[in-house]
Amino acid sequence: MKYTVITGASSGIGYETALAFAARGKNLIIAARRTEELEKLKSKVTDINPNLDVVIRSVDLSVTAHVCAFYDSLQDYQIETWINNAGFGNFASVGEQNLNKIESMIHLNIEALTVLSSRYVRDYADVEGTQPCPPPNFMLPSGINNTMADSINF
Ligand SMILES: NC(=O)c1ccc[n+]([C@@H]2O[C@H](COP(=O)([O-])OP(=O)(O)OC[C@H]3O[C@@H](n4cnc5c(N)ncnc54)[C@H](OP(=O)(O)O)[C@@H]3O)[C@@H](O)[C@H]2O)c1
Repeated sequence: MKYTVITGASSGIGYETALAFAARGKNLIIAARRTEELEKLKSKVTDINPNLDVVIRSVDLSVTAHVCAFYDSLQDYQIETWINNAGFGNFASVGEQNLNKIESMIHLNIEALTVLSSRYVRDYADVEGTQPCPPPNFMLPSGINNTMADSINF
């Protein structure tokens, strides 16, 4: 059975992406910190299509050690698509930035993204029909205006 992984699926773009993939009959592995929100999403997906399997992973991906443990925990699943969506932004003048927050942002938006993308590509590069997807953060600076769903070949 094949799965689509979506990080940051508990709200916003990740949540809607999960519903879009569910509507296309894709089994899901949904990850974020807020387990309750993931449970609600799972219940909504089950309403859309009771035949789909939805796996929940509650994880803080800004913690380096959790990132590899998260990836390792999925070894038994066949992953068709990997969507790195979890992330956040920060608006403050440079001198007033909360450096703890910035550190978390770098861990999540850059480190986790790089580790998860690299491991997925390493494991699945030769598997036909698989695809990694960068987060919207990566698409906007490059001037690609497609929505995430449009940019994914599914
Ligand atoms: N909306 C925009 O206009 C926009 C523009 C440019 C880029 N983006 C990027 O697009 C992505 C989604 O944005 P959005 O607007 O949908 O944001 P959102 O509603 O705040 O969703 C962010 C998701 O990331 C998860 N997340 C945050 N910190 C996490 C952590 N430490 N570990 C694991 N998961 C974490 C959140 O879940 P939990 O809180 O449950 O962990 C949530 O599911 C983000 O990467 C964002 O930076 C958005």
